[in-house]
Amino acid sequence: MAYNLLKGKRGIIFGALNESSIAWKVAERAHEEGAIFTLSNAPIALRMGEIQVLADKCGSVVIPADAANVADLKALIAQSVEVLGGKLDFILHSIGMSPNVRKGRHYSDLDYDLLNRTLDVSAVSFHKVLQTARKLDAINEWGSVLALSYIAAQRTFYGYNDMADAKSLLESIARSFGYIYGNERKVRINTISQSPTPTTAGNGLKMFSNLLDFSDRLSPLGNATADECADYCIVMFSDLTKKVTMQNLFHDGGFSSMGMSVSAMEQYNKGFEEDGHKFD
Ligand SMILES: NC(=O)c1ccc[n+]([C@@H]2O[C@H](COP(=O)([O-])OP(=O)(O)OC[C@H]3O[C@@H](n4cnc5c(N)ncnc54)[C@H](O)[C@@H]3O)[C@@H](O)[C@H]2O)c1
Repeated sequence: MAYNLLKGKRGIIFGALNESSIAWKVAERAHEEGAIFTLSNAPIALRMGEIQVLADKCGSVVIPADAANVADLKALIAQSVEVLGGKLDFILHSIGMSPNVRKGRHYSDLDYDLLNRTLDVSAVSFHKVLQTARKLDAINEWGSVLALSYIAAQRTFYGYNDMADAKSLLESIARSFGYIYGNERKVRINTISQSPTPTTAGNGLKMFSNLLDFSDRLSPLGNATADECADYCIVMFSDLTKKVTMQNLFHDGGFSSMGMSVSAMEQYNKGFEEDGHKFD
């Protein structure tokens, strides 16, 4: 159902690669809610992905940009303001990539050049987007900027590798820049910490299907889907959340507050019994 929550708002959505991308779902919902926006992704992703299908559906222009490249970001933001006919009200940073994960490097044997690229693309790019937008004075008062994060920023999830470090940095940038941009121009900056979600980035992680299942069973409401994440992003872009800033907002069916559930404890005990041990 549409509520016209973003009627008259302009934005940039980074990171829609294919139909399963969280950014893809956000773009569809933002369009339904009356927003106009440009779509951006890395030049290589534009060649591999299906973003033009989404652009046609949403009446959007696609503008390539490597989010780690400030010159690309300057051109993207300036062009977006021009194409959309005014300053921006929202930006979604839905970007993550670790070459160490891709190459199967263990966390105790990272390649540091690759680590720099992980941090640059997945976290520092958020700072670059914010700094560039601020210098161009491209965001309206009460504008809302979001990046997507994961709970491995706070807790250890084996296999999330150097992306955990990137997410910690990402969330810290939201707080540090949130103070400056809020104080000066009333722009709010938040991260949404989303449940594991079956997307191209998600599926690239070690033991991802196990993680998805574990997290779904432990969360009282089950995992949050990409569509549900899109709904949350829309509310965060709307005027209904004007005083929310510098937050890491968990969108995970309750997972982040759980320690042990009844069914997890039963399963744990059963494991011991099957092994011939009694847990007491
Ligand atoms: N899938 C999950 O389980 C999950 C959970 C929590 C948070 N997240 C986060 O959500 C965000 C979106 O990921 P997704 O799950 O939709 O996967 P996805 O693979 O669909 O999206 C990741 C996007 O990052 C883009 N990207 C990579 N390098 C880039 C660069 N240099 N410049 C610009 N764009 C670049 C990719 O092209 C892709 O569109 C990421 O930040 C991810 O870490 C995902």
